[in-house]
Amino acid sequence: MKTHFYITGTTSGLGRALTSELLKTESHWVFGIARSSITQSERYRHLQLDLSQPDFPFFEFDATDCDTIVLINNAGWIGPVTPLGEQTDSDIELAFGVNLSAAVVLTNRFLKQTKSFTGRRVIINISSGAANYPVASWATYCASKAALDMITKVLREESPEVESLSIAPGIVDTAMQKEIRSANPDQFMAHARFMSYYENGELTAPEVVAAKIIGLLEQNLNTLPAVVSVRDF
Ligand SMILES: NC(=O)c1ccc[n+]([C@@H]2O[C@H](COP(=O)([O-])OP(=O)(O)OC[C@H]3O[C@@H](n4cnc5c(N)ncnc54)[C@H](OP(=O)(O)O)[C@@H]3O)[C@@H](O)[C@H]2O)c1
Repeated sequence: MKTHFYITGTTSGLGRALTSELLKTESHWVFGIARSSITQSERYRHLQLDLSQPDFPFFEFDATDCDTIVLINNAGWIGPVTPLGEQTDSDIELAFGVNLSAAVVLTNRFLKQTKSFTGRRVIINISSGAANYPVASWATYCASKAALDMITKVLREESPEVESLSIAPGIVDTAMQKEIRSANPDQFMAHARFMSYYENGELTAPEVVAAKIIGLLEQNLNTLPAVVSVRDF
């Protein structure tokens, strides 16, 4: 039987690596969502959507002919890397839109639409270590990831029949890290630290992180704590 994966942010970084890794298995179908587009295999479908817009179009989660359906809320934006007091209203809305609201809206739609599905249902939220500590100039990012962790904890209480997990991927070598390094050092106190992660080769390849996350699906995710880090495994 087939597994349907709905993954946001499949055009780059971790989402792209998750997609490639998952499509190595014949029974996997991936439905990817992002603003730009990619083509993958014949078992990949793409939806071009801007998830930062509160009224992004409705689409159906297709649970026909499959025994497992998985939603991975992966799309994310580091936001404007500047302190509060220097951001625009729309940047703040965009950051919370893609990092948090879209994930909650998709989770709500997923639960509603797959209510009568008798197979395995799984929701994975891609979080960040920054959910647990403050990083100056990352206010919206830290706050949205902390909220995503709490949403996952609430989901465990409300919908124990659905597997859910919030997972921090570690420091991954993606466009997001590039964007962090390109921030203005005068506006970003941790700039030197992120430069040194890169220069010391401390970034993990997205393929390695993707394989670890996919490996976790071999167990019931609700046997794990609701919020984990890839580094725990
Ligand atoms: N890289 C790290 O070190 C790191 C660390 C901790 C957590 N994370 C988390 O890991 C996840 C993946 O990040 P990444 O590092 O792989 O970043 P990335 O390479 O920048 O990829 C971000 C993905 O999100 C999509 N996206 C961004 N804004 C969107 C929007 N408004 N609507 C729809 N799609 C949107 C992008 O596609 P389009 O541009 O085509 O829309 C892209 O596919 C994120 O949730 C991030 O917070 C990353």
